[in-house]
Amino acid sequence: MRLGDEAGAAGFSLVTLESVDSTNRLALDLAQQARANKTWVVSEKQREGRGRHGREWASPPGNLYASLLLVAPCKVADAPKLGFVAGLALAETAGLLAPQADIRLKWPNDLLADGAKLAGILLEGRMIAPDRQAVAIGMGINVAVAPALVGPRTTSLRELGASADRREAFRRLSNRLSHWLDVFDGGAGFAAIRAAWSGLALPLGAPLTVKLPAGPRVGAFAGIDDDGRLLLDTPLGLARIDAGDVFLRQEQGGDTDG
Ligand code: BTN
Repeated sequence: MRLGDEAGAAGFSLVTLESVDSTNRLALDLAQQARANKTWVVSEKQREGRGRHGREWASPPGNLYASLLLVAPCKVADAPKLGFVAGLALAETAGLLAPQADIRLKWPNDLLADGAKLAGILLEGRMIAPDRQAVAIGMGINVAVAPALVGPRTTSLRELGASADRREAFRRLSNRLSHWLDVFDGGAGFAAIRAAWSGLALPLGAPLTVKLPAGPRVGAFAGIDDDGRLLLDTPLGLARIDAGDVFLRQEQGGDTDG
């Protein structure tokens, strides 16, 4: 396992493991160490892989489990935008490795291939000083195996016809994330991130159901706003959604969860 050449040249470093509870947990625990910024943690398997909303992320060998630790990468309020930066890197990686698949980003932090979940992102932050936040950008890509999830259909790069292994997926991912973090520029470049993300997202008008504490909202995907909120065209008008579990309502079969 090694970094891509561009990531290596850009000063990222890499810690590799055979097994860990969660690469996100380890990355955040490294945050107090000197020179921990821009450290990737990659493990062959995870014993307690974390998904969003407190769910488990099944982590058998063969897939990619990678977390990038960033120390004070942007204002605390902007940290959720790093999910779009990571999404772009994941989408480009998948597009390069499985060029025949229809690769789409789904708000906030999911990657779909031919309508099935291929990869997910879990952002976790920790304040390491009153004004310093460490952020772990955790990314899981189904490279060789598509673990079953409750709800969404899943797929893997292998199922999509790609021959790349997790090492190649990581090299490409590390290069693309290095590039998009440069564009993000500590938050100042979010307009460019938003534009690029939108170009790889589900088509405008895609039918979505968003599960909110107050109950589900149904509407059509209308993009994301300047702050990264989901725009949902509903029968009651345009809704701006900060957080929620989003499902793509498919014409046939079940929903595709986030
Ligand atoms: C999701 O629910 O879609 C997010 C899944 C994120 C999984 C990755 S695997 C590497 C990193 N370490 C974890 O424990 N989770 C993330």
